[in-house]
Amino acid sequence: MKHLISIDQYDYQALHTLFENVSKEKYGFIESNYPKKSQIATLFYEPSTRTSASFHSAAIQLGYSVLPINEVTYSSVTKGETLEDTIRTIGSYVDLIVLRHSEKGAAKRAAEVSTVPIINAGDGNGEHPTQTLLDIYTIWKTFKKINGLTVTLMGDLKNGRTVHSLIKILRHYKVKINLISPDSLKLPKEYYKNSDIEYSIFPKDLQTDILYVTRIQKERGSKEDYKLSYDELISLPSNAIVMHPLPRAGEIPVLFDNDPRAKYFEQIKNGLLVRKALLRELLI
Ligand code: CP
Repeated sequence: MKHLISIDQYDYQALHTLFENVSKEKYGFIESNYPKKSQIATLFYEPSTRTSASFHSAAIQLGYSVLPINEVTYSSVTKGETLEDTIRTIGSYVDLIVLRHSEKGAAKRAAEVSTVPIINAGDGNGEHPTQTLLDIYTIWKTFKKINGLTVTLMGDLKNGRTVHSLIKILRHYKVKINLISPDSLKLPKEYYKNSDIEYSIFPKDLQTDILYVTRIQKERGSKEDYKLSYDELISLPSNAIVMHPLPRAGEIPVLFDNDPRAKYFEQIKNGLLVRKALLRELLI
């Protein structure tokens, strides 16, 4: 049985196999005998729009059915049921569980007792590996390469799980990484394994190929606030791209959305393809 708990499970080869499979999804080159498992559950202890809806949509497009539990308040979690018992129960009904939880490490705990594959759809301020798969695919698709690029990660680097997974995957490439955050929201030391990292406190000039912006995670106690102005964004290099996992909370002005360098809506579209390819991979 396969689970996806951490982006650490992907090396260079596995990533590029996934990229090929995503391209097949895009152009419909899928063999007719792909695995047809019957049902997945989307079990979300925290709010979600993109991750929940894209897994749901991916499953339906693959011919699977979905058991959506997106509001655990109405489940026996409210009566004090443990994550482990909930996973054992839902796993009796479905072939795979997509789990989002507010506690770091929850997906690993779930995998330890689960009889079906678990996909980590975000565990507290830990990781968000499927977001990273769609992010790195978007970068690769845009630049046709990853080596040699400069990547700037900006925002809540302490509690933003998308940047935790993204910075881990970038270890497989020769990239220059800039980190920009308020002092209180710096990247935790456990993620500091890349050799070529420059750290700065914003504002700073934005000479980069990729500007990856994240929201301040107020639900995890992050308190700062920041916004990029339209003028700052349009002064980026002409071939740079701006990414954001969304939702945004004012970091990027709507006025910038029609700029060809704004990639955040393309990320969403790529997310559906990536999650379709991933479901096929894990349900074989
Ligand atoms: N990027 C992301 O995880 O969005 P949702 O919280 O809407 O799923």
